[in-house]
Amino acid sequence: MRIRTFDEYQTAYQKSVDDPEEFWAEIAQNFQWRKPWTKTLQWNFSEPNIKWFIGGKLNITENCLDRHLIERGDQPAIIWEPNDPNEAGVTLTYRMLHDQVCRFANVLKRNGVVKGDRVCIYMPMVPELAIAVLACARIGAVHSVVFGGFSAQSIADRINDAQCKVVVTADGSYRGNKEIPLKSTVDDALIGCPSVQKVIVMTRTRTPVSMLKGRDIWWEQELKQVTADCPAEEMDAEDMLFILYTSGSTGKPKGVVHTCGGYMVYATYTFQNVFQYEPGQVFFCTADIGWITGHSYIVYGPLASGATSVIFEGVPTYPDCGRFWDITDKHNVNILYTAPTAIRSLMGFGLDKVENHDLSSLQVLGSVGEPINEEAWHWYDDNIGKNRCPIVDTWWQTETGGILISPLAGITKTKPTFATLPLPGVQPILVDENGKEIEGNGVSGNLCMKFPWPGILRTTYGDHERCRQTYFATYPGLYFTGDGCLRDEDGYYRITGRVDDVLNVSGHRIGTAEVENAINMHTGVVESAVVGYPHDIKGQGIYAYVITDQQPDGHDVELTKRDILATVTRVIGPIAKPDKIQFVTGLPKTRSGKIMRRILRKIAEGDTSNLGDTSTLLDPAVVDEIKAGAT
Ligand code: WTA
Repeated sequence: MRIRTFDEYQTAYQKSVDDPEEFWAEIAQNFQWRKPWTKTLQWNFSEPNIKWFIGGKLNITENCLDRHLIERGDQPAIIWEPNDPNEAGVTLTYRMLHDQVCRFANVLKRNGVVKGDRVCIYMPMVPELAIAVLACARIGAVHSVVFGGFSAQSIADRINDAQCKVVVTADGSYRGNKEIPLKSTVDDALIGCPSVQKVIVMTRTRTPVSMLKGRDIWWEQELKQVTADCPAEEMDAEDMLFILYTSGSTGKPKGVVHTCGGYMVYATYTFQNVFQYEPGQVFFCTADIGWITGHSYIVYGPLASGATSVIFEGVPTYPDCGRFWDITDKHNVNILYTAPTAIRSLMGFGLDKVENHDLSSLQVLGSVGEPINEEAWHWYDDNIGKNRCPIVDTWWQTETGGILISPLAGITKTKPTFATLPLPGVQPILVDENGKEIEGNGVSGNLCMKFPWPGILRTTYGDHERCRQTYFATYPGLYFTGDGCLRDEDGYYRITGRVDDVLNVSGHRIGTAEVENAINMHTGVVESAVVGYPHDIKGQGIYAYVITDQQPDGHDVELTKRDILATVTRVIGPIAKPDKIQFVTGLPKTRSGKIMRRILRKIAEGDTSNLGDTSTLLDPAVVDEIKAGAT
């Protein structure tokens, strides 16, 4: 499976284009299948209908756990680093993890969960989160992990969309010096979730929680009732493995669906090749398991590879801004995978807390989630990698299951701000607005894919038509990523950011429409328009233009802003809070009533000199008013 030279990369790439089925069939042979597949691929992008490894039977946890027991049963699978560095961490060997996953799988079974049932997981970054995820996979239940920063309303929406039967949560979570109540948020969510029959609560913070008789049960007590004997459920390659909700440009978040076989093969293949993983290495991905990066590169990819994966509960700045480097030295991390927003925020603290660390265990550095700017790239390279660790800038999406465009560490020549070249099996194409291919190098356009890879999403839960509309209808015959992209003279790809109404705030995907809907729920708000603007640390900040029925003035302005933030926090969660709010009396609309976001974006960026053609606006005077009041 491992590519070791640039020549091998080129050969593999060519083969993956000439004969994709043969290419992936060979790779898939490195996994444990209960029954081999009979046909490698069947697909069309029109319905869409995509199936990999048809007829193949497997269980992903046998690949992540059981098959490692003989050779590396006593090697650490998970190293858990708690929020508080003075609290003892936990190291779980493959044998221990296998044991705990089986036990918790039996807890789920005991509570009525059967193959195909959906289980919502809303937990802190503790080993039990990975255990809960794998326990679902063990028995063929579909996990839907909801990031711990989402509100009760967001949890309820996700639970209801997937009709989850069970919720797994904890009393609370620690993040930096904060203690966040999780169970009480779940309680609020469950007021409107009739599908939920059981809530399993793990003890973490010992914060008082209400436990509803008949519904709520303790993780620890349940474990006392089960054995560690839990044979894995036999799954079809195309059975659902998980749902992960993500934001798009319209309406509510959609449940991206990944299936067992293709996802396993793709997450693992990309893990081993992009990071050039060597057996025995310690891998530290700083993402939360609530996002796709955590699914693929904390849990499934590393474990299917038999790697040691670090799970960190806390934040990069607690107890101080040297925490990532403490963890790196403490656990001899060999591969570090983090986000540009974290790098930029740590850059701001200077080098004091970097220079007192050794960091000599590091061999490869990764970046993910948003474009990495040149300054951050060099800071990472100079100060963390000491100019001896290759940096892999990995571009991908929740929908892609794994990395699509990235250097292979130490093999592909890197260029700051470029995700460089497509991985084998990935066939990017740039198109113009009309879907016409833009050929050659030194060009830019909308990034699409013309051929499926095993990790591509199969549908959006409960609404296949939405999947078709969102990803496969804009440019017929292509998967549309939503990203703009430049291909330079060397054929290297640089992702320039979303071309739709999706924001990327600190690496979190947030739809402008979602934020607008939340703001519009605030009393007195008549209408709002949300755009992104460049933000030094977050990459993008959220700028909201808000019309209220009574224009606030004086002291009221700040109070009303705070109240609106509270509403957004309640509806979506703190990650969607606007950074700036400007009260306006009107929005720049065309005669047909469409908001001209281009103008709002320019003003939010502070670039009011060149607003382009405003003559088609219903009321051009609105623009001057907005310009004058810009914050
Ligand atoms: C953006 C995260 C530039 C992109 C794995 C994409 C990136 C969205 C990069 C997906 C990168 C991710 N360079 N942009 N290396 N990685 N993005 O679904 O806009 O949370 O469409 O998946 O993040 O975000 P998601």
